[in-house]
Amino acid sequence: MSIIKLHDKYFKSYISSKQIDEAIQKLVDQTTEDLKDVDTPLFIGILNGSFMFVADFIRKYNSDCEVSFVKLASYEGTNSTGKIKQLVGVNENLEGRTVVILEDIIDTGNTLQEIYQIFEDKKVKQLKIATLFFKPDVFKKALPIDYIGIPIPDKFIVGYGLDYDGIGRNLEEIYQLTTEPKMKNIVLFGPPGAGKGTQAEMLRDKYQLKHISTGEVFRFNIKNETELGKLAKSYMDDGNLVPDEVTINMLKEEVDKNSDANGFIFDGFPRTESQAKALDQFLEEKGERINGMVALEVSEDLLVERLLERGKTSGRSDDQDESKIRNRFVEYNTKTAILKDYYQAQNKYFGANGVGSIPEITERLSQIFDKL
Ligand code: IMP
Ligand code: MG
Repeated sequence: MSIIKLHDKYFKSYISSKQIDEAIQKLVDQTTEDLKDVDTPLFIGILNGSFMFVADFIRKYNSDCEVSFVKLASYEGTNSTGKIKQLVGVNENLEGRTVVILEDIIDTGNTLQEIYQIFEDKKVKQLKIATLFFKPDVFKKALPIDYIGIPIPDKFIVGYGLDYDGIGRNLEEIYQLTTEPKMKNIVLFGPPGAGKGTQAEMLRDKYQLKHISTGEVFRFNIKNETELGKLAKSYMDDGNLVPDEVTINMLKEEVDKNSDANGFIFDGFPRTESQAKALDQFLEEKGERINGMVALEVSEDLLVERLLERGKTSGRSDDQDESKIRNRFVEYNTKTAILKDYYQAQNKYFGANGVGSIPEITERLSQIFDKL
């Protein structure tokens, strides 16, 4: 679930597999009921876009039926009218049959009208139309559409059989055209002692990004007794974890407050897959996305050494005990692994060697940031 790019355009996820499935089930139920007295109806899918819809529809249709596909092809006519449309693939004698056209999408209805005219000449007994998607705002024809899965606004969609200039048909879900993302949004990770805070500041200044440290956002809200701060505190006072929703809402406010930013460095968030999903969804609604998760990679032994060294002078008790330090890494690694998998699945995980001087590491991170 995220913003994807096909050719030159960006698309955001729009209709889930589950919603598609439910819509198809509804169409199957309606047609089954209406056709219960018909002796073997013939379902005809209009290629190419309808292949997935037809496959899923037919799988759910439990009464006897026949299935066929046609393609509307245009060829240059020899007469003066120029282009003539022709259905390729109907060889059956359709006289007296009940035919149900299965369309993936009806937009202006131009295609449907062509198909209608062609079938009228074939003396079918009954012609019904079922479409998975329908754009009521653009449909201008006086043709009956018997079954409509999901009405959608007049925006271009892809996926589940539908293409944008040839590609995108294999997407399982439906994506909707969106504007090009303007922001660079990065989730920054680093184990304790890796120098993440320092690097976040360097990168914030270099790329003019807003650094959102979850810890700071929490302290700000609690100190200023905002509604969300009070809510968070009430959980903390009872010794409970603050629910994801409260944390996410705080971050949303922070993002909305800085809506003219070039982008954000998220620090300390997300920590769980469900938080990562919520963040994706929130950004998607704004036509934005996470460009990548960037993680500083430093060997544990080296970090333990560094932290113990720091503990000698800083007096921080949690930096003085090796087993406590190692525990923090276990926790860090467990959490990071989950998110690493999540972002890696979207090709958005980038590890950076975190050993070296501050400028060296900033340079390495910059090389990643530049690419994102
Ligand atoms: P019509 O405007 O109803 O004739 O639709 C023509 C064809 O355009 C459809 O069969 C689809 O192949 C394609 N089409 C219309 N709207 C969309 C869309 O939002 N995404 C992908 N293809 C579309
Ligand atoms: Mg079509």
